[in-house]
Amino acid sequence: MAEFPLVPGSTIGILGGGQLGRMLALAAARLGFDVVIQDPEEGSPAGRVSARQIVAAYDDRWALKRLAEACDVVTYEFENVPADTVSELAALGAMVSPGAKALAAAQDRVVEKSFLAEIGVPTVAFAPVHDSESLAAALAKIGAPSLLKTRREGYDGKGQAWIQKAADAEASFDKIGRQAAILEAPADFGRELSVIAARGRDGEIACYPVAENHHEGGVLRRTVAPAKITQATRDQAEKIAAKILTALDYVGVIGVELFELSDGKLLVNEFAPRVHNTGHWTQDGCEVDQFEQHIRAVAGWPLGPTAPHHHVEMTNLLGADVDAWKKLAAEPETRVHLYGKGEARAGRKMGHVNRLRPLRD
Ligand SMILES: Nc1ncnc2c1ncn2[C@@H]1O[C@H](COP(=O)(O)OP(=O)(O)O)[C@@H](O)[C@H]1O
Ligand SMILES: [Mg+2]
Repeated sequence: MAEFPLVPGSTIGILGGGQLGRMLALAAARLGFDVVIQDPEEGSPAGRVSARQIVAAYDDRWALKRLAEACDVVTYEFENVPADTVSELAALGAMVSPGAKALAAAQDRVVEKSFLAEIGVPTVAFAPVHDSESLAAALAKIGAPSLLKTRREGYDGKGQAWIQKAADAEASFDKIGRQAAILEAPADFGRELSVIAARGRDGEIACYPVAENHHEGGVLRRTVAPAKITQATRDQAEKIAAKILTALDYVGVIGVELFELSDGKLLVNEFAPRVHNTGHWTQDGCEVDQFEQHIRAVAGWPLGPTAPHHHVEMTNLLGADVDAWKKLAAEPETRVHLYGKGEARAGRKMGHVNRLRPLRD
Protein backbone atom coordinates (compact mmCIF):
# COMPACT_ATOMS: atom_id res chain seq x y z
CA MET A 1 0.00 0.00 0.00
CA ALA A 2 1.14 3.44 -0.89
CA GLU A 3 2.01 5.92 1.81
CA PHE A 4 0.38 9.31 1.80
CA PRO A 5 1.11 12.02 0.90
CA LEU A 6 2.41 10.55 -2.35
CA VAL A 7 5.85 11.88 -3.21
CA PRO A 8 6.40 13.53 -6.59
CA GLY A 9 7.36 10.84 -9.09
CA SER A 10 4.59 8.55 -7.83
CA THR A 11 2.11 7.17 -10.33
CA ILE A 12 -1.60 7.89 -10.46
CA GLY A 13 -3.96 5.62 -12.42
CA ILE A 14 -7.09 6.98 -14.06
CA LEU A 15 -9.94 4.78 -15.29
CA GLY A 16 -11.35 6.51 -18.35
CA GLY A 17 -9.52 8.42 -21.07
CA GLY A 18 -11.93 11.22 -21.99
CA GLN A 19 -11.58 14.96 -21.50
CA LEU A 20 -11.92 14.81 -17.73
CA GLY A 21 -9.11 12.26 -17.56
CA ARG A 22 -7.07 14.45 -19.88
CA MET A 23 -7.40 17.54 -17.71
CA LEU A 24 -6.71 15.48 -14.57
CA ALA A 25 -3.59 14.05 -16.20
CA LEU A 26 -2.33 17.51 -17.15
CA ALA A 27 -2.83 18.70 -13.56
CA ALA A 28 -1.09 15.61 -12.18
CA ALA A 29 1.87 16.14 -14.49
CA ARG A 30 2.23 19.70 -13.22
CA LEU A 31 2.61 18.34 -9.68
CA GLY A 32 5.29 15.87 -10.74
CA PHE A 33 3.21 12.71 -11.00
CA ASP A 34 3.15 10.15 -13.78
CA VAL A 35 -0.27 9.10 -15.01
CA VAL A 36 -1.40 5.75 -16.42
CA ILE A 37 -4.76 5.79 -18.19
CA GLN A 38 -6.90 2.71 -18.68
CA ASP A 39 -9.41 3.03 -21.51
CA PRO A 40 -10.57 0.62 -24.21
CA GLU A 41 -10.06 3.23 -26.94
CA GLU A 42 -6.54 3.47 -28.35
CA GLY A 43 -5.06 6.99 -28.31
CA SER A 44 -7.77 8.41 -26.04
CA PRO A 45 -7.78 12.17 -25.25
CA ALA A 46 -6.25 11.46 -21.82
CA GLY A 47 -3.93 8.71 -23.03
CA ARG A 48 -2.27 11.11 -25.42
CA VAL A 49 -1.09 13.42 -22.60
CA SER A 50 -0.16 10.73 -20.09
CA ALA A 51 2.95 8.65 -19.44
CA ARG A 52 1.13 5.52 -20.52
CA GLN A 53 -2.22 4.10 -21.55
CA ILE A 54 -3.38 0.56 -20.95
CA VAL A 55 -5.76 -0.15 -23.82
CA ALA A 56 -8.27 -2.52 -22.26
CA ALA A 57 -11.85 -2.91 -21.10
CA TYR A 58 -12.61 -1.99 -17.48
CA ASP A 59 -13.30 -5.61 -16.58
CA ASP A 60 -10.08 -6.95 -18.11
CA ARG A 61 -8.46 -8.65 -15.11
CA TRP A 62 -5.02 -8.82 -16.63
CA ALA A 63 -5.11 -5.11 -17.39
CA LEU A 64 -6.35 -4.28 -13.89
CA LYS A 65 -3.45 -6.28 -12.46
CA ARG A 66 -1.01 -4.21 -14.50
CA LEU A 67 -2.76 -0.99 -13.45
CA ALA A 68 -2.68 -1.94 -9.76
CA GLU A 69 1.01 -2.80 -9.98
CA ALA A 70 1.92 0.41 -11.77
CA CYS A 71 -0.04 2.86 -9.61
CA ASP A 72 0.18 4.24 -6.07
CA VAL A 73 -3.46 5.32 -6.23
CA VAL A 74 -6.20 4.83 -8.80
CA THR A 75 -9.03 7.27 -9.52
CA TYR A 76 -11.65 7.58 -12.27
CA GLU A 77 -13.20 10.17 -14.56
CA PHE A 78 -16.67 8.64 -14.93
CA GLU A 79 -19.10 7.15 -12.43
CA ASN A 80 -20.06 4.07 -14.39
CA VAL A 81 -16.87 2.19 -13.59
CA PRO A 82 -18.15 -1.34 -12.83
CA ALA A 83 -18.31 -2.08 -9.10
CA ASP A 84 -16.41 -5.33 -9.80
CA THR A 85 -13.51 -3.32 -11.26
CA VAL A 86 -13.13 -1.45 -8.00
CA SER A 87 -13.33 -4.58 -5.85
CA GLU A 88 -10.86 -6.33 -8.16
CA LEU A 89 -8.42 -3.41 -7.82
CA ALA A 90 -8.87 -3.43 -4.05
CA ALA A 91 -8.21 -7.18 -3.95
CA LEU A 92 -5.00 -6.52 -5.89
CA GLY A 93 -3.93 -4.11 -3.15
CA ALA A 94 -4.66 -0.88 -5.04
CA MET A 95 -6.12 2.15 -3.30
CA VAL A 96 -9.12 3.48 -5.27
CA SER A 97 -10.34 7.02 -4.50
CA PRO A 98 -13.13 8.07 -4.26
CA GLY A 99 -14.09 4.70 -2.74
CA ALA A 100 -16.66 2.02 -3.53
CA LYS A 101 -19.34 3.63 -1.33
CA ALA A 102 -19.34 6.85 -3.34
CA LEU A 103 -19.47 4.97 -6.63
CA ALA A 104 -22.32 2.73 -5.52
CA ALA A 105 -24.37 5.74 -4.38
CA ALA A 106 -23.77 7.68 -7.59
CA GLN A 107 -24.44 4.81 -10.00
CA ASP A 108 -28.07 4.25 -9.16
CA ARG A 109 -30.55 7.11 -8.91
CA VAL A 110 -32.74 5.31 -6.35
CA VAL A 111 -29.78 4.43 -4.12
CA GLU A 112 -28.50 8.00 -4.54
CA LYS A 113 -31.75 9.72 -3.52
CA SER A 114 -32.35 7.22 -0.68
CA PHE A 115 -28.85 7.94 0.63
CA LEU A 116 -29.50 11.70 0.44
CA ALA A 117 -32.79 11.28 2.32
CA GLU A 118 -31.01 9.23 5.00
CA ILE A 119 -28.45 11.95 5.67
CA GLY A 120 -31.09 14.68 5.67
CA VAL A 121 -30.34 16.27 2.30
CA PRO A 122 -33.53 17.32 0.46
CA THR A 123 -34.40 16.06 -3.04
CA VAL A 124 -37.61 15.89 -5.08
CA ALA A 125 -40.07 13.17 -4.06
CA PHE A 126 -39.33 9.90 -5.86
CA ALA A 127 -40.38 6.27 -6.20
CA PRO A 128 -38.74 3.22 -7.77
CA VAL A 129 -40.19 1.63 -10.91
CA HIS A 130 -39.41 -1.76 -12.45
CA ASP A 131 -42.67 -2.97 -14.03
CA SER A 132 -46.24 -1.84 -14.79
CA GLU A 133 -47.38 -2.45 -11.23
CA SER A 134 -44.64 -0.42 -9.58
CA LEU A 135 -45.13 2.27 -12.24
CA ALA A 136 -48.79 2.57 -11.26
CA ALA A 137 -47.86 2.67 -7.57
CA ALA A 138 -45.19 5.32 -8.24
CA LEU A 139 -47.68 7.43 -10.21
CA ALA A 140 -50.20 7.18 -7.37
CA LYS A 141 -47.54 8.53 -5.02
CA ILE A 142 -45.80 11.16 -7.21
CA GLY A 143 -48.59 12.18 -9.61
CA ALA A 144 -48.18 13.76 -13.05
CA PRO A 145 -46.48 15.53 -14.64
CA SER A 146 -43.42 13.66 -13.42
CA LEU A 147 -40.10 12.55 -14.83
CA LEU A 148 -39.17 8.92 -15.43
CA LYS A 149 -35.41 8.24 -15.54
CA THR A 150 -33.44 5.02 -15.83
CA ARG A 151 -31.82 4.19 -12.49
CA ARG A 152 -28.45 3.57 -14.09
CA GLU A 153 -26.21 4.94 -16.85
CA GLY A 154 -28.16 8.07 -17.79
CA TYR A 155 -26.14 11.13 -18.74
CA ASP A 156 -26.69 14.38 -20.64
CA GLY A 157 -30.45 13.90 -20.23
CA LYS A 158 -30.41 10.46 -21.88
CA GLY A 159 -32.68 7.72 -20.52
CA GLN A 160 -35.38 10.18 -19.40
CA ALA A 161 -39.02 10.66 -20.38
CA TRP A 162 -41.65 13.02 -18.98
CA ILE A 163 -45.05 11.65 -18.06
CA GLN A 164 -47.45 14.53 -18.76
CA LYS A 165 -50.54 12.67 -17.63
CA ALA A 166 -51.17 9.28 -16.04
CA ALA A 167 -52.47 7.80 -19.32
CA ASP A 168 -49.02 8.39 -20.94
CA ALA A 169 -47.11 6.47 -18.29
CA GLU A 170 -46.73 3.16 -20.13
CA ALA A 171 -45.62 4.93 -23.31
CA SER A 172 -42.94 6.83 -21.35
CA PHE A 173 -41.81 3.58 -19.73
CA ASP A 174 -41.51 2.08 -23.23
CA LYS A 175 -39.48 5.11 -24.33
CA ILE A 176 -36.78 4.37 -21.75
CA GLY A 177 -36.74 0.70 -22.71
CA ARG A 178 -38.70 -0.51 -19.65
CA GLN A 179 -35.47 -0.49 -17.68
CA ALA A 180 -35.39 -0.22 -13.88
CA ALA A 181 -36.24 3.41 -13.27
CA ILE A 182 -37.04 6.19 -10.84
CA LEU A 183 -40.11 8.40 -11.02
CA GLU A 184 -39.38 11.93 -9.85
CA ALA A 185 -41.67 14.81 -8.96
CA PRO A 186 -40.94 17.88 -11.08
CA ALA A 187 -38.62 20.36 -9.42
CA ASP A 188 -40.14 23.81 -9.76
CA PHE A 189 -36.76 25.46 -9.95
CA GLY A 190 -35.87 29.02 -10.90
CA ARG A 191 -32.24 28.19 -11.54
CA GLU A 192 -29.92 25.22 -11.70
CA LEU A 193 -26.84 25.66 -9.54
CA SER A 194 -23.96 23.41 -8.63
CA VAL A 195 -21.31 23.25 -6.00
CA ILE A 196 -17.94 21.64 -6.62
CA ALA A 197 -16.25 20.54 -3.43
CA ALA A 198 -13.33 18.43 -2.31
CA ARG A 199 -12.40 16.34 0.70
CA GLY A 200 -8.82 15.46 1.52
CA ARG A 201 -7.45 12.28 3.12
CA ASP A 202 -7.39 14.05 6.49
CA GLY A 203 -11.09 14.97 6.21
CA GLU A 204 -10.46 18.60 5.30
CA ILE A 205 -13.22 20.05 3.07
CA ALA A 206 -12.98 22.88 0.54
CA CYS A 207 -15.85 24.27 -1.55
CA TYR A 208 -15.68 26.34 -4.72
CA PRO A 209 -18.07 29.24 -5.20
CA VAL A 210 -21.50 28.10 -6.38
CA ALA A 211 -22.01 28.11 -10.18
CA GLU A 212 -25.15 28.76 -12.22
CA ASN A 213 -25.79 26.31 -15.07
CA HIS A 214 -27.77 26.41 -18.28
CA HIS A 215 -28.71 23.20 -20.11
CA GLU A 216 -29.96 22.78 -23.67
CA GLY A 217 -31.64 19.50 -24.56
CA GLY A 218 -30.30 17.91 -21.36
CA VAL A 219 -26.69 18.91 -22.13
CA LEU A 220 -24.77 21.57 -20.22
CA ARG A 221 -24.25 24.55 -22.48
CA ARG A 222 -23.05 27.31 -20.19
CA THR A 223 -21.90 27.90 -16.61
CA VAL A 224 -21.54 31.32 -15.02
CA ALA A 225 -19.61 31.62 -11.80
CA PRO A 226 -19.43 32.72 -9.11
CA ALA A 227 -23.24 32.73 -9.23
CA LYS A 228 -25.14 35.69 -7.80
CA ILE A 229 -26.58 34.10 -4.66
CA THR A 230 -27.28 35.12 -1.10
CA GLN A 231 -25.01 34.18 1.76
CA ALA A 232 -27.80 31.91 3.05
CA THR A 233 -27.85 30.00 -0.26
CA ARG A 234 -24.09 29.67 -0.19
CA ASP A 235 -24.23 28.33 3.37
CA GLN A 236 -26.92 25.83 2.36
CA ALA A 237 -24.89 24.59 -0.63
CA GLU A 238 -21.73 24.20 1.43
CA LYS A 239 -23.56 22.40 4.20
CA ILE A 240 -25.08 19.97 1.68
CA ALA A 241 -21.70 19.26 0.08
CA ALA A 242 -20.03 18.72 3.45
CA LYS A 243 -22.78 16.32 4.58
CA ILE A 244 -22.41 14.19 1.45
CA LEU A 245 -18.61 14.15 1.53
CA THR A 246 -18.45 13.23 5.20
CA ALA A 247 -21.14 10.52 4.99
CA LEU A 248 -19.31 8.87 2.07
CA ASP A 249 -15.91 9.17 3.78
CA TYR A 250 -15.01 10.71 0.46
CA VAL A 251 -11.57 11.52 -0.94
CA GLY A 252 -11.43 13.69 -4.07
CA VAL A 253 -13.57 16.25 -5.89
CA ILE A 254 -17.34 15.90 -6.13
CA GLY A 255 -19.88 17.78 -8.29
CA VAL A 256 -23.27 18.36 -6.69
CA GLU A 257 -26.11 19.52 -8.98
CA LEU A 258 -28.73 21.67 -7.26
CA PHE A 259 -32.19 23.05 -8.00
CA GLU A 260 -32.87 26.49 -6.53
CA LEU A 261 -36.57 26.86 -5.69
CA SER A 262 -38.35 30.22 -5.66
CA ASP A 263 -38.26 30.37 -1.84
CA GLY A 264 -34.47 29.99 -1.91
CA LYS A 265 -34.49 26.36 -0.80
CA LEU A 266 -31.97 24.05 -2.50
CA LEU A 267 -32.71 20.47 -3.56
CA VAL A 268 -30.00 18.10 -4.72
CA ASN A 269 -30.65 16.77 -8.23
CA GLU A 270 -27.69 14.42 -8.38
CA PHE A 271 -24.01 14.23 -7.60
CA ALA A 272 -21.05 12.98 -9.59
CA PRO A 273 -18.11 11.36 -7.76
CA ARG A 274 -15.57 13.09 -9.97
CA VAL A 275 -14.55 16.39 -11.47
CA HIS A 276 -17.54 17.97 -13.15
CA ASN A 277 -18.31 19.93 -16.32
CA THR A 278 -19.81 22.74 -14.20
CA GLY A 279 -16.41 23.07 -12.51
CA HIS A 280 -14.42 23.77 -15.67
CA TRP A 281 -14.67 27.49 -14.96
CA THR A 282 -12.30 27.00 -12.00
CA GLN A 283 -9.41 26.44 -14.45
CA ASP A 284 -9.32 30.16 -15.20
CA GLY A 285 -11.38 31.56 -12.34
CA CYS A 286 -9.91 30.09 -9.15
CA GLU A 287 -6.55 29.89 -7.47
CA VAL A 288 -6.35 26.08 -7.66
CA ASP A 289 -8.71 24.45 -10.16
CA GLN A 290 -10.88 21.35 -9.66
CA PHE A 291 -8.46 19.10 -11.55
CA GLU A 292 -5.42 19.94 -9.43
CA GLN A 293 -7.66 19.81 -6.36
CA HIS A 294 -8.73 16.25 -7.18
CA ILE A 295 -5.14 15.16 -7.72
CA ARG A 296 -4.09 16.83 -4.46
CA ALA A 297 -6.89 15.04 -2.58
CA VAL A 298 -6.25 11.55 -3.93
CA ALA A 299 -2.49 12.01 -3.48
CA GLY A 300 -3.04 12.92 0.16
CA TRP A 301 -1.69 16.43 -0.34
CA PRO A 302 -3.18 19.45 1.39
CA LEU A 303 -6.13 20.91 -0.51
CA GLY A 304 -5.45 24.13 -2.39
CA PRO A 305 -7.25 27.48 -2.04
CA THR A 306 -10.56 27.69 -3.92
CA ALA A 307 -10.99 31.47 -3.89
CA PRO A 308 -12.11 33.02 -7.19
CA HIS A 309 -9.94 35.63 -8.92
CA HIS A 310 -12.13 36.18 -12.00
CA HIS A 311 -15.74 35.96 -12.99
CA VAL A 312 -16.06 33.26 -15.66
CA GLU A 313 -18.59 32.29 -18.29
CA MET A 314 -17.82 28.75 -19.43
CA THR A 315 -19.34 27.59 -22.73
CA ASN A 316 -19.10 24.02 -23.97
CA LEU A 317 -17.95 23.61 -27.57
CA LEU A 318 -20.29 20.93 -28.90
CA GLY A 319 -19.76 19.30 -32.28
CA ALA A 320 -18.94 21.81 -34.99
CA ASP A 321 -18.71 24.70 -32.44
CA VAL A 322 -15.07 23.73 -32.19
CA ASP A 323 -14.45 24.90 -35.76
CA ALA A 324 -14.47 28.45 -34.35
CA TRP A 325 -11.20 27.79 -32.47
CA LYS A 326 -9.26 30.38 -34.46
CA LYS A 327 -11.71 33.20 -33.80
CA LEU A 328 -12.00 32.18 -30.13
CA ALA A 329 -8.24 32.07 -29.72
CA ALA A 330 -8.06 35.67 -30.93
CA GLU A 331 -10.39 36.95 -28.17
CA PRO A 332 -8.22 38.32 -25.38
CA GLU A 333 -10.74 37.52 -22.63
CA THR A 334 -11.22 33.92 -23.78
CA ARG A 335 -9.26 30.87 -22.67
CA VAL A 336 -9.60 27.95 -25.07
CA HIS A 337 -9.54 24.34 -23.84
CA LEU A 338 -9.65 21.62 -26.52
CA TYR A 339 -9.83 17.91 -25.88
CA GLY A 340 -7.93 16.56 -28.87
CA LYS A 341 -10.88 14.54 -30.17
CA GLY A 342 -10.78 13.67 -33.84
CA GLU A 343 -14.32 13.59 -35.05
CA ALA A 344 -16.65 16.54 -34.24
CA ARG A 345 -19.89 14.53 -34.18
CA ALA A 346 -23.05 16.57 -33.48
CA GLY A 347 -23.39 17.27 -29.76
CA ARG A 348 -20.02 15.73 -28.85
CA LYS A 349 -18.08 17.66 -26.20
CA MET A 350 -15.02 18.83 -28.17
CA GLY A 351 -13.76 21.53 -25.83
CA HIS A 352 -14.85 24.55 -23.83
CA VAL A 353 -14.01 28.21 -23.49
CA ASN A 354 -13.75 30.25 -20.33
CA ARG A 355 -14.50 33.95 -20.84
CA LEU A 356 -13.08 36.07 -18.05
CA ARG A 357 -14.11 39.35 -16.54
CA PRO A 358 -12.83 41.09 -13.46
CA LEU A 359 -14.51 39.78 -10.33
CA ARG A 360 -16.00 43.14 -9.30
CA ASP A 361 -17.94 44.00 -12.48
N1 LIG B 1 -37.08 16.16 -11.16
C1 LIG B 1 -36.79 17.07 -12.11
N2 LIG B 1 -37.61 18.12 -12.33
C2 LIG B 1 -37.36 19.04 -13.30
N3 LIG B 1 -36.29 18.97 -14.12
C3 LIG B 1 -35.43 17.95 -13.96
C4 LIG B 1 -35.63 16.95 -12.95
N4 LIG B 1 -34.61 16.08 -13.03
C5 LIG B 1 -33.82 16.51 -14.03
N5 LIG B 1 -34.29 17.63 -14.60
C6 LIG B 1 -33.67 18.36 -15.73
O1 LIG B 1 -32.98 17.45 -16.58
C7 LIG B 1 -31.57 17.68 -16.55
C8 LIG B 1 -30.81 16.35 -16.60
O2 LIG B 1 -31.21 15.53 -15.53
P1 LIG B 1 -30.16 14.80 -14.56
O3 LIG B 1 -30.93 14.07 -13.52
O4 LIG B 1 -29.16 15.78 -14.10
O5 LIG B 1 -29.55 13.70 -15.54
P2 LIG B 1 -28.12 13.55 -16.22
O6 LIG B 1 -27.52 12.42 -15.46
O7 LIG B 1 -28.45 13.22 -17.62
O8 LIG B 1 -27.38 14.85 -16.04
C9 LIG B 1 -31.33 18.47 -15.27
O9 LIG B 1 -30.16 19.24 -15.34
C10 LIG B 1 -32.60 19.32 -15.23
O10 LIG B 1 -32.53 20.39 -16.14
MG1 LIG C 1 -27.16 16.01 -14.33
